[in-house]
Amino acid sequence: MFRKVLFSTMAAAFLVVLVTAASAYKVPDVIVLERPKDNKPLATWVTKVEFAHGFHAIRVSCQKCHHKESDKTLGEFVGCRQCHGADDPNDKTGFYRAWHSDGPPSCLGCHTQMRARGGDNPVGCTTACHKPS
Ligand code: HEC
Ligand code: HEC
Ligand code: HEC
Repeated sequence: MFRKVLFSTMAAAFLVVLVTAASAYKVPDVIVLERPKDNKPLATWVTKVEFAHGFHAIRVSCQKCHHKESDKTLGEFVGCRQCHGADDPNDKTGFYRAWHSDGPPSCLGCHTQMRARGGDNPVGCTTACHKPS
């Protein structure tokens, strides 16, 4: 009897841990993406980008973008800029490539691919992302 109670208590505790882990991730709603301080924009019309993060997070799975998920024990995904800070636009871990490479983790990469499959994803530099302020 005692064993059985102990077991179900442990099972319940385990479930609580699981559920909390799944819902513990923070999902910021809007994130302003600004280039690192001494990183020069490639053109004058390149403005900071207001990214509708929450809008995306209910349409695309987290891991599709957060391709290098942070240590799960942190209970949080880390920002891209933590790794993608380099100036060089050809550097795979550069600031520019994170948003413009051909592959899905990048904004433009995913939008271009989804558009090719009939999606309504915007791809215009100054109409979709770098809106004049
Ligand atoms: C369409 C791509 C995309 C999807 C989907 C997405 N994110 Fe993000 N997320 C980003 C970008 C871009 C940032 C901003 C990174 C930066 O500021 O360097 C970000 C930032 C974050 C941050 C803040 C990190 C920090 O330290 O500033 C958290 C937390 C986060 N996302 C969690 C999530 C979770 C949880 C999900 C799924 C429910 C999710 N994201 C889905 C692209 C995405
Ligand atoms: C922990 C570090 C780290 C984080 C956080 C991270 N990346 Fe990366 N990323 C890398 C590394 C390293 C590469 C180089 C190739 C590889 O290992 O996948 C890369 C490659 C990429 C590429 C391919 C670039 C190319 O030219 O082929 C894109 C796009 C990208 N990351 C976007 C993102 C986005 C968007 C986020 C945030 C939602 C993010 N990354 C978060 C480390 C990171
Ligand atoms: C993995 C795929 C994916 C990535 C990466 C991604 N998006 Fe999107 N984006 C979407 C989808 C899906 C939609 C909704 C398209 C639709 O309405 O049919 C969307 C829509 C948008 C829209 C239009 C929103 C509206 O109000 O109509 C903007 C602007 C946008 N994304 C900006 C960004 C930016 C900036 C990034 C990078 C920081 C990014 N996206 C990364 C999939 C992606």
